[in-house]
Amino acid sequence: MRILLTGAAGFIGTATWRGLVTDGHDVVAVDLLVPEAHGVATRDDPPAGLHVLDVREASAWGDLFQGVDVVVHLAAMVGAGVTAADLPLYAGHNDLGTAAVLAAMHAANVDRFVQASSMVVYGEGRYTCPEHDTQSPGPRTREALDAGTFDTPCPVCGGPLDWALVGEDAALDPRSSYAVSKVAQEGYAGAWVRQAPGAAVSLRYHNVYGPGMPRDTPYSGVAAMFRSSLERGEPPTVFEDGTQMRDFVHVDDVARANLAAVRAVVGLEPATHRAYNVASGHPIAIADVARHVAAGSGRDVEPRITGQYRIGDVRHVVASPARARDEIGFTAQVTPEDGLARFATAPLRA
Ligand code: UD1
Repeated sequence: MRILLTGAAGFIGTATWRGLVTDGHDVVAVDLLVPEAHGVATRDDPPAGLHVLDVREASAWGDLFQGVDVVVHLAAMVGAGVTAADLPLYAGHNDLGTAAVLAAMHAANVDRFVQASSMVVYGEGRYTCPEHDTQSPGPRTREALDAGTFDTPCPVCGGPLDWALVGEDAALDPRSSYAVSKVAQEGYAGAWVRQAPGAAVSLRYHNVYGPGMPRDTPYSGVAAMFRSSLERGEPPTVFEDGTQMRDFVHVDDVARANLAAVRAVVGLEPATHRAYNVASGHPIAIADVARHVAAGSGRDVEPRITGQYRIGDVRHVVASPARARDEIGFTAQVTPEDGLARFATAPLRA
């Protein structure tokens, strides 16, 4: 197939580009080379024949959609949003960018769309109370966090909650500017499939890590930060009490998920939009992420658990990988133990 890939020079884009080409596809690679997302690539040079353009500019596309079967849209501002001043960045690159790509596809009669979404659309994960079944706690207060109360209580009885796997039908509850923009992207895809008509798949990636990840910027995920601390000879700094749960999914598995979504989206009925979690299926506490990266670096260091917190962080969020396995045949192959240990010495972007 001929696939137009936006964000092709990025961390996930480069791995996806390689996966699509290896699978025999003809890939039209597009990227704006936004500095926050890029730095200097060290694992791979940007894809051959990369078209450097801003997806928001209709006139920039020329005839790039000619013969395209599927668009895989990864181009986005990433990270959680560092300050309120970042709001227009997310709204511009992510919300408007997606709307503009969908309009350009419509103009060119391209009707299959795969989009990079995120676990952040869920906000807090799923929780159960032994007495009151499934509960959706609201954001944590500064007062509770300052007091070192990191776990959210049951909103009904105030008792402790257990975390559980989040399925795709959970209510969306975005908590950051980035999360809001990811919900918007999914919303535009849903509107477009009906209007165009077309078919779309949104992939809700969990915490992605692996070779080519951007080094330690305020927009980087925690795995890169742990690695940078170790390289400086310092212990990784773990916020809260380190027992907050996530799922760390290797970038090569994310590339496999994107390929699975490309294959699936061509078989969908028009006016269909499906969302899938992309997770390793091995939930992990953040302190253990630090320990695995430390082990891989060959340094016998215990993480420093600080009790610090970032306002807006969710406590636990862990996705169920079941629907992606059952409907698009995606199962992650890299375990966090292996992948995070190898990540300790993998090349990063400067
Ligand atoms: C991350 C991404 C988000 C992505 C989501 C997918 C970033 C900044 N956030 O959110 O864009 O969509 O995964 O699920 O890329 N922590 C430390 N020490 C640090 C930094 C963070 O302990 O130095 C902790 C945080 O408090 C948090 C956890 O590590 O509990 C994960 O943080 P982070 O990597 O920023 O990821 P998410 O908030 O899960």
